[in-house]
Amino acid sequence: MEAWQKALLAWYRAQARLLPWRGEKDPYRVLVAEVLLQQTRVAQAIPYYRRFLERFPTLKALRGAPLEEVLKAWQGAGYYRRAANLHRLAQEVEALPRSYAELLKLPGLGPYTAAAVASIAFGERVAAVDGNVRRVLSRVFALENPAPKVLWELAQGLLPEAEDPGAWNQALMDLGAEVCLPRGPRCTACPLEALCRGKEAPERFPRPRRRRV
Ligand code: ADE
Repeated sequence: MEAWQKALLAWYRAQARLLPWRGEKDPYRVLVAEVLLQQTRVAQAIPYYRRFLERFPTLKALRGAPLEEVLKAWQGAGYYRRAANLHRLAQEVEALPRSYAELLKLPGLGPYTAAAVASIAFGERVAAVDGNVRRVLSRVFALENPAPKVLWELAQGLLPEAEDPGAWNQALMDLGAEVCLPRGPRCTACPLEALCRGKEAPERFPRPRRRRV
């Protein structure tokens, strides 16, 4: 592993957020967290995560519940289609499939969520690129507008060998959420500052999307 990779993982172990799904290996619980986090911010997602899992602690419990109750348990989290997809998914599979490729076929799982679950719950070496990771990598490599495929390939190439890929992916997510902020990034606190090519003008990377008027 390269020194900067070690530095990021050390930062993650020491500084990263203590979130209720951290250290979670039950794929169903990881899935619920990741589906919530698709559109809900971390701090807001925590109470919904707890409430939903209290009500439906397993895929089996979710499978046996009427849709109406599932939607009720999701109340307040918004984007109800996510809850309906979870319910449908529970009807379709007995257990969650263990690979990225199979997870991707489930309702409501795009590349990001499938990769997050595969890496965190099953230790598959697959990069999970969300908005935070996009920003971190765009800055480190001074990319103004990387295409999704280019970015994913870059992220995939950075995954260290013989490391927990779930920890790696979450380290990048947390770095984006806590340090590599959209505006006013905290570069002096960043474990990747030394190699970051965008640090002189971080807010140029990725190029801000034009606002609609
Ligand atoms: N955003 C989406 N998934 C996340 C996770 N597992 N940890 C932190 N932020 C996230």
